[in-house]
Amino acid sequence: MPCVRRRPLQSHAHRRSLARGIVPKRRRSAASQQWRPRMDLVSAATEVRARAYAPYSRFQVGAALLGASGAVHVGCNVENAAYPEGTCAEAGAIAAMIAAGETRIAAVAVIADSPRPVPPCGGCRQKLAEFADPDTPVTLATMAGARLETTVGALLPGAFRPDDMPDT
Ligand code: THU
Repeated sequence: MPCVRRRPLQSHAHRRSLARGIVPKRRRSAASQQWRPRMDLVSAATEVRARAYAPYSRFQVGAALLGASGAVHVGCNVENAAYPEGTCAEAGAIAAMIAAGETRIAAVAVIADSPRPVPPCGGCRQKLAEFADPDTPVTLATMAGARLETTVGALLPGAFRPDDMPDT
């Protein structure tokens, strides 16, 4: 009989998990794949928030942007002894996105240890509007687990946009 080399039905990791009594997660449905990137975005924002440099306000903020390419770009607030020189988390994430060669935002998450889901400041709303569509989803979060789902357009209705300068 010819020796037919078959792929094992279960991978080594899968078999090891089963042996340990861990039941691997099933493949996600199409519907749950839609929320997954946005949950991951909050996780990415939470992770980068821990690296915020905020010795003056002691208010650490993390932001994560899902780029149109699928890449995630993160930023945290970076304060300065000359207070107005500090930069917001959203601005840092936008700078990282531009430095990575990407210019369109598909989704946004911002997190802070705030009593309500952290509202981006006015300047950051304008900065986000530059690279996103009005219906681009934004998740605002608290470290305690509260979430507010909104959009870039709802955060800054009537934003001044690049197409308001048709001759430039
Ligand atoms: N901050 C952000 O990073 N994003 C916002 O949208 C709100 C405020 C930062 C700026 C400053 O370092 C600290 O939070 C307190 O204002």
